[in-house]
Amino acid sequence: MAGGFESLRLGSIAPNFQADTTKGPIDLHEYIGDNWVVFFSHPEDYTPVCTTELGEMARLEPEFAKRGVKLLGLSANTLGSHEGWIQDIKEVTGSQVNFPIVADKARTVAYLYDMIDQQDTTNVDEKGIAFTIRSVFIIDPKKTIRTILSYPASTGRNSAEILRIVDSLQTGDKNKITTPVNWVPGDDVIVHPGVKGEEATRLFPNLRAVKPYLRFTALPKDA
Ligand code: BEZ
Repeated sequence: MAGGFESLRLGSIAPNFQADTTKGPIDLHEYIGDNWVVFFSHPEDYTPVCTTELGEMARLEPEFAKRGVKLLGLSANTLGSHEGWIQDIKEVTGSQVNFPIVADKARTVAYLYDMIDQQDTTNVDEKGIAFTIRSVFIIDPKKTIRTILSYPASTGRNSAEILRIVDSLQTGDKNKITTPVNWVPGDDVIVHPGVKGEEATRLFPNLRAVKPYLRFTALPKDA
């Protein structure tokens, strides 16, 4: 386990850890390797919202893989609990969870990633100790945290939004662009404010300036 305080901010290095998972022991940085990782926590195994979420992430795993993204789940439950629940998820949703889920009963990783619930007094274990919230960390191949999302236990995540953020980040990294409100792949993008003058027209010949600071452009497919 990494020691000392490491800040959880966009742009900071994802704190490394070693932990047991449903696919064996894991070292986060080794698991990331040259990939992107979506690392996400759920409150508790054998609960309704979590069952729908994990089933959906399992169904979408091939979509994440297409983008070079590996998935990693976590909750403050035991390996045995995860393993039994994975059977239920398959039965209920039809999807097999093939990605690892960290068994963090002691909440060591949950504290490292600030995933512990402080508001929902029903989201606690049999001893009254708080479970995790629905956190999402999108981590890039340089091990940099690129996105942090926090959802309450009561609200299932929008998995399409997680994929959309990955698409936006990866498209932005490749093309010096940003993405506007409600953007989805195929929509026009915005030329990054840091790209000015001649460079902008060279890179984006079809640039459409609505204001000097708001310049849309289409991108070729697969850009
Ligand atoms: C759920 O997954 O349904 C859930 C888990 C913990 C608290 C509230 C809801």
